[in-house]
Amino acid sequence: MNPAPSSSAIATDSNAGVIGCDALLSVAPYYERGGITIYHADARDVIDMLPDGLVLTDPVYGINGGKGGDAKDYRKGGYEMDGWADTEEYVQSVCVPVVQALLEKCVRAAVTPGIRCLNFYPRPVDMGCLWTPAACTHGPWGFTTMQPILYYGKDFRAGKGALPSGRAVTEASEKNGHPCPKPLSAWTWLMDKVSQQEETILDPFMGSGTTLRAAKDLNRKAIGIEISERYCEIAARRLAQDVLPLFSDNAERTRGANNH
Ligand SMILES: C[S@@+](CC[C@H](N)C(=O)[O-])C[C@H]1O[C@@H](n2cnc3c(N)ncnc32)[C@H](O)[C@@H]1O
Repeated sequence: MNPAPSSSAIATDSNAGVIGCDALLSVAPYYERGGITIYHADARDVIDMLPDGLVLTDPVYGINGGKGGDAKDYRKGGYEMDGWADTEEYVQSVCVPVVQALLEKCVRAAVTPGIRCLNFYPRPVDMGCLWTPAACTHGPWGFTTMQPILYYGKDFRAGKGALPSGRAVTEASEKNGHPCPKPLSAWTWLMDKVSQQEETILDPFMGSGTTLRAAKDLNRKAIGIEISERYCEIAARRLAQDVLPLFSDNAERTRGANNH
């Protein structure tokens, strides 16, 4: 078992009474509503309890915060680093094994590994990309315009009108307090490409919850895991966005969301 996240997360007020043991708190849902669940946990600790499904995830890129403004924020501690590191070693020793373990139980996967650590992952069946003409960051050879997508498993549309494996991204990501959220519309496109209505989508490196928000919009079931409580809170808020605060049911609000 890996060290539990720094604080205990409680999914809903209704669950609070059921959980009577500290050891269970690290795997109790932080948020659970309408088929969407967030675990505030280290992904390594919860892989075994996840149901079968498909993986859509955007793990740590291993770039030490990248270059330019992002790197400055990173060095100044602007990233919430609860027990993880944005290094190649971390990607190799944590992110790759988590993805590998999920590939063994899941029918399909799309992973956006970034460029630097791309080759650490198991060989994919196909590759696509999110092409960002205005650049998403910059690297040793100039502005980075490509975010690779690794595809695993079989395309359920193959032979029946397959879709492109990549997409141009011109929309900006929402500024939500996470250092690198994916643009929602691009992520919704990718989710629609890799998942079918009845399937459960697993995101072991959830960040600010773009996968879960896309799942909600597409009426899919999804489970997100995030080691940082701050990012769990952001994700929970994004999921609650269409609920009028005046009329929302307190029993369905997360403790984290209530703190702010
Ligand atoms: C590249 S970000 C994902 C961003 C996300 N796609 C979004 O749109 O917000 C990767 C996330 O993985 C989280 N993380 C790192 N190690 C983790 C671990 N062992 N278990 C769960 N989450 C982890 C980090 O806190 C970070 O938020």
